[in-house]
Amino acid sequence: MNIGPLVSFRHANLGTLEDSIEAAGKGIVVDDNRIVCIDDSQKLIDEYSIPQGGRTTVGDIACYDVEGRAVVPGLVDGHTHLLWAGDRSKEISWRREGKTYAEIAALGGGIRYTVQETRAASDEELHRLGYQRLREALSTGTTHLEAKSGYGLNVESELRLLEVAERLNMNAHTPTIDHTWMGAHDVPKGRDPDDYVEELVSEQLPAIVDQNIARSADVFCEPGWFSLDQSETILQASRQAGLALRMHVDEFADGGGGDLAATLAVDTADHAYHTSIDTRLRMKEAGVNTGFLPGTPYAMGDSWPNMTEIVEETIPFTLASDFNPNCRTLSLPFMCSLMVQRCGMHPLHAVAAVTMNAARTTPHPTGHPHGVITEGGVANFNILDGDHWESMVLRPSTTPFSATVLNGQFITH
Ligand code: NIG
Ligand code: FE
Repeated sequence: MNIGPLVSFRHANLGTLEDSIEAAGKGIVVDDNRIVCIDDSQKLIDEYSIPQGGRTTVGDIACYDVEGRAVVPGLVDGHTHLLWAGDRSKEISWRREGKTYAEIAALGGGIRYTVQETRAASDEELHRLGYQRLREALSTGTTHLEAKSGYGLNVESELRLLEVAERLNMNAHTPTIDHTWMGAHDVPKGRDPDDYVEELVSEQLPAIVDQNIARSADVFCEPGWFSLDQSETILQASRQAGLALRMHVDEFADGGGGDLAATLAVDTADHAYHTSIDTRLRMKEAGVNTGFLPGTPYAMGDSWPNMTEIVEETIPFTLASDFNPNCRTLSLPFMCSLMVQRCGMHPLHAVAAVTMNAARTTPHPTGHPHGVITEGGVANFNILDGDHWESMVLRPSTTPFSATVLNGQFITH
């Protein structure tokens, strides 16, 4: 009740984002885990005889008066490497010596180091880490996230990561999970790359599909990791097996990954810092989302794409955390702050990128709308701790939210 500005996006014009915000004075009625009605607050107060102020109950209905605070949808993180063990903090000294990501990997750091640590961790340890990380994501408003495997790199370990993630998904008090198989994150130490691609296609993929344990496949398509040909082989096989497609492209150089993403019309091509504007336009034409991951250049000291040009060309994009051993934050408000306070992005574009847009590449397991606040949608939304929705993108170090409604449960921060 008594919601301040309501960034619902339910009437939003997708291109201009006009009509995204509803004036103060609305209330939201939730039944179980769905939104059943959004109406004038006073009308609902009269209809249900709700006393004013704070938290009250009327019969078996719990009522919350949010006293004019702004409300935004539950945040959707469309790109995380949620499950891994170990610590790569020592890489910071290599980076300070000027070593690149590829050089650090060649020195025994990088993905392969984390694979070693992850394989050595027990299921219980991975579950504990995953639970802690999901709680952390929830504390900054994330209600649903995509989680990739990719630190196993063999049939048994990749399946194990996806199984632990699914066990975490059963938990009602943490964000829900959209599973992605990313066996093509790196070539395991000592393996021939083409042999490994063969293993991906003829062993890992069938096992993943057989267990119905991932919705999408992802490939690290980048010079030095998976080539364009190898990426295409893996992605075509995954598509044939019924998986949706995602890619990591053009993170360190324009290696043609964005072009392949357009040719294959994958759902989302992420990183894409070095993608040319012509390729971005091809991707737009092919209906490919770009997942910008501002935490990675922030953590690695890389350059930023020209976001003004991207907004002007109406390139469809999402913002996500890319949580991984190098980029250890799951805060989407922080990602938005980086874009707004460092790249001049309009706050509403940033909020749309982590809600309405992200929900398109990362659907909810129930199949109901989320990332928007709408009747019939999942009851996932965030209550700011003030009456300005913009404050969501101006709080990089503390949670901007006083509470989150997750699948209809009211959780106070
Ligand atoms: O998306 N670029 C590939 N994968 C991750 C990083 C993985 C790692 O360094 O462990 C990413 O940034
Ligand atoms: Fe990533």
